[in-house]
Amino acid sequence: MATVTQKPKQAKAPNIRQTQLLIDGEWVDAVSGKTFATINPATEEKIADVAEGDKADIDRAVKAARKAFETGPWSKMDARDRGRLMNKLADLVEANLEELAALETLDNGKPISDSRAADLPLVIDCLRYYAGWADKIHGETIPVRGNFFSYTLREPLGVVGQIIPWNFPLLMVAWKWGPALAAGCTIVMKPAEQTPLSCLRMAELAMEAGFPPGVINIVPGYGPTAGAALVEHPDVDKIAFTGEHRTAQLIMTNAAQTLKRLTFELGGKSPNVIFADADLDAAVAGAEFGLFFNQGQCCCAGSRVFVQQDVHEKFVEKLVSRASNRKLGDPFDPETTQGPQVDEAQFSKILSYIEKGRQGGAECLTGGERFGDKGFYVQPTVFNNVTDDMEIATDEIFGPVMSILPFKDVDEVVERSNKSMFGLAAAVWTRDVGKAHHFAKSVRAGTIWVNCYDVFDAAAPFGGFKMSGIGRELGEAALANYTELKTVTMSLD
Ligand code: NAI
Ligand code: MG
Repeated sequence: MATVTQKPKQAKAPNIRQTQLLIDGEWVDAVSGKTFATINPATEEKIADVAEGDKADIDRAVKAARKAFETGPWSKMDARDRGRLMNKLADLVEANLEELAALETLDNGKPISDSRAADLPLVIDCLRYYAGWADKIHGETIPVRGNFFSYTLREPLGVVGQIIPWNFPLLMVAWKWGPALAAGCTIVMKPAEQTPLSCLRMAELAMEAGFPPGVINIVPGYGPTAGAALVEHPDVDKIAFTGEHRTAQLIMTNAAQTLKRLTFELGGKSPNVIFADADLDAAVAGAEFGLFFNQGQCCCAGSRVFVQQDVHEKFVEKLVSRASNRKLGDPFDPETTQGPQVDEAQFSKILSYIEKGRQGGAECLTGGERFGDKGFYVQPTVFNNVTDDMEIATDEIFGPVMSILPFKDVDEVVERSNKSMFGLAAAVWTRDVGKAHHFAKSVRAGTIWVNCYDVFDAAAPFGGFKMSGIGRELGEAALANYTELKTVTMSLD
């Protein structure tokens, strides 16, 4: 019997439904009346004007979140009902998957095939995973000395400020909302100025699901204005931030006055280590995916590819062939595997690092230029014979630029892997189980992948050692970011 395999369909740009701020369940303009443009990075054309929040809007949003936390229906809702609302939101996201995927592709530039197959399914999974936690957060009884009964309560932390980046706009919403809502917190979120649209649409779906007013508030705007106001606000209990480590340093300084709880998920310069005994084709495919996925705009991008000398030449040949065959183009075409970078600032930053790579003496094997003459596209670029001290080996480039560094043995590569201020992720490719375990134990990073890369699951904690962050997202671990532990001790006399 003949089977017809259908080609995935070309996606269409969706209608833009929401461009205002969401405060206390109402869609409103900014107090200042200001707006900012969000740009389609594939065409460099404006998509829409979005309300630009600032201090006055943050004040209103925090007030609404505080009211919802202290006295609103949210504060009295059974944990199980919170979970039901979260599942309802997950269902609505699933029902609107195609629209949300297209919105993500339009605003961020990522290929529609990735939005459909990676971002959206992970969003839905994350919401459902945390919906399941809502009624499973509990304290313990403690055997204290004397005639006392002592127990702990895990209470919601309060009003939380969440500041997210543009590389996985909707997935970052899910990672942040999931544990916060499960724990019973209320939220003021500032999406990235480059990509506010999918967050606003998801907030609209949250209203449709029935979240009470003030539980989820969205204030799009810029970092130094809206973001900073959220960080400094005395009535915000915590800031969860994902972005650049320098921004985190600023946030930490500015949050000191109010001693806010802080969790950070920051950048990396993750080593991806290929031993001579690895399945070479799998390692080549893993190295390509580990770096070029999402246009290289991943905090955990495998940007330092260490290759053992014996297979170096063969690896380079296979890798360059794959890299140069990536399909750049219209992100709405389901065949496209690489879209544009998110904006002009990122595009220029990447091109300047490519220049630094050349000047520093690394060998550019493929790419190295802009792709086309419209949109923020950068050719997949591979540098060979990179040394540890070159800027392209130390700095987070956040683009489709791979550095290949040859190495001799295990001890050397472990030491060089750890020679970074970052420690977000690392991967190792080998058939030797002992070597894999040794590597996993010796490398100071929050996630280690063995013979795979970028395998994410809502249940598996993710976060950084060293300057890659503070705290863990996902899994049970993330619930601690959104709860306070209270000890109650009662005399039994
Ligand atoms: P960023 O850290 O400046 O922006 C992330 C978020 O923080 C945005 O919502 C932004 O508006 C907000 N923000 C900026 N300044 C702030 C402030 N003073 N107070 C409060 N919030 C503030 O990152 P940006 O400028 O978009 O990208 C710069 C570099 O950062 C990238 O090239 C990349 O290397 C890294 N990055 C890392 C990410 C990750 O997932 N680890 C995500 C995005 C960027
Ligand atoms: Mg910035």
